[in-house]
Amino acid sequence: MDRFCCILLVSLSGVSTQFVPPYTEECQTGMYPPKGPTFKGSVTWYTIDLDLPPSERWKLIITDKKAELVTLIQAIRDLANAFVPSGKLIDLVDKDLPLIVNTLPYPFNEEIKGIATASGVPLGEVVLFNIFYEVFTVCTSLVAEDSNGNLIHGRNMDFGLFMGWDMKNRSWLITEKLKPLVVNIDFQRGNKTVFKSTNFAGYVGMLTGIKPHAFTLTMNERFSLDGGYIGIVEWILGHRDGMWMSFLTRSVLENATSYEEAKRLLAQTKLLAPAYFILGGNQTGQGCVITRSRVLSLDIWEIELKLGRWYVLETNYDHWKEPLFLDNRRTPAMKCMNQTMQANISLKTVYDVLSTKPVLNKLTTYTTLMDVNEGKLESYIRDCPNPCMPW
Ligand SMILES: *[C@@H]1O[C@H](CO)[C@@H](O)[C@H](O)[C@H]1NC(C)=O
Ligand SMILES: *[C@@H]1O[C@H](CO)[C@@H](O)[C@H](O)[C@H]1NC(C)=O
Ligand SMILES: *[C@@H]1O[C@H](CO)[C@@H](O)[C@H](O)[C@H]1NC(C)=O
Ligand SMILES: *[C@@H]1O[C@H](CO)[C@@H](O)[C@H](O)[C@H]1NC(C)=O
Ligand SMILES: *[C@@H]1O[C@H](CO)[C@@H](O)[C@H](O)[C@H]1NC(C)=O
Ligand SMILES: *[C@@H]1O[C@H](CO)[C@@H](O)[C@H](O)[C@H]1NC(C)=O
Repeated sequence: MDRFCCILLVSLSGVSTQFVPPYTEECQTGMYPPKGPTFKGSVTWYTIDLDLPPSERWKLIITDKKAELVTLIQAIRDLANAFVPSGKLIDLVDKDLPLIVNTLPYPFNEEIKGIATASGVPLGEVVLFNIFYEVFTVCTSLVAEDSNGNLIHGRNMDFGLFMGWDMKNRSWLITEKLKPLVVNIDFQRGNKTVFKSTNFAGYVGMLTGIKPHAFTLTMNERFSLDGGYIGIVEWILGHRDGMWMSFLTRSVLENATSYEEAKRLLAQTKLLAPAYFILGGNQTGQGCVITRSRVLSLDIWEIELKLGRWYVLETNYDHWKEPLFLDNRRTPAMKCMNQTMQANISLKTVYDVLSTKPVLNKLTTYTTLMDVNEGKLESYIRDCPNPCMPW
């Protein structure tokens, strides 16, 4: 399945006729501190102790979020059964995906098993939940350098494309069910922070995180006709060459110690599918978008003050190509960054940019803001009141 085709199909099928012409707005200002109808709530903090055996680590979070997780899994099951009415798809998930868990690398295999035990959700469905994000995350991420050389990293996590459009509420079913699962996690060893992330409870990879005083990292999906999801299918069929993308970001956040080391690992590790990694460091010039194919880094696009490039910004299209005309979040986001100017860049103004439609859209589950030198990560659950683009 390819995003381009899907967006075209969905457009033709009428979802977007609710939104013609595409709804965009002037750059927002004064949105921070978050309030009003685009702010749905703050995100709870949890601690995960990396000194515990992996199967124990998620217990507290899952105990708290069990009801929300079960509701989400039921919604996914309903969608799958609507798609394949015989129920065969979910049978397959329950029967075959549990076998996959043992092929996943440590500690991810053990953590996933622990989550299944703590939640009572069948193991295959927890595996599906964990694979899921590798496939359907569409986002906006940016790293900007302020006039003092501090790096600010922001992202909108947009998730749930094509997962059940609700005509009445004008919302995506899965996106809405994910919002209550958003958590902030402080991963510790020896009672000291190793890294922090914004995550969905029960998902063991990382999509958004900070290693305080060292680097910040987000991942966006890259749709590619050649790369596709062949690697994931190959993994399931037994050809296990390459790393799951969000497991790599988790390993980098946990074990890399500098921007340079993180950059090298993200650029050089073989992957199961293409991806964009957006990485910020702790000193001037350290911000980049790494465009990956499965095998190699196609391009590293860096902040370059000499060229007037004081920020890098990525949605879901290669930066040297035009975005799909039906899905252009890049131009509005860049317009607002340009309008803000380097002298005014801060968590506050980055939140304004990420609050401007269609950068903020019906898929946006959360906004995260990170300041590496302060060691700060803050996240907010988002809503996009009508009129608002579905993606
Ligand atoms: C959609 O609206 C219906 C009522 O019209 C409500 O019961 C339901 O909870 C809403 N769903 C979401 C996801 O907001
Ligand atoms: C971490 O703190 C808890 C209580 O605050 C203490 O019981 C435990 O021994 C500490 N662990 C380490 C590795 O220091
Ligand atoms: C990080 O490194 C430690 C020590 O080598 C290892 O036990 C752990 O599994 C690694 N973490 C990840 C997520 O790969
Ligand atoms: C930046 O990161 C490097 C590598 O982790 C570290 O040695 C250095 O102290 C950090 N600088 C600041 C200002 O935090
Ligand atoms: C923003 O500024 C950059 C650098 O000057 C420029 O290349 C880009 O076209 C501008 N984009 C928009 C949408 O204004
Ligand atoms: C941005 O910075 C300029 C120059 O420092 C200032 O004049 C302007 O008012 C600022 N704009 C905003 C929106 O803060």
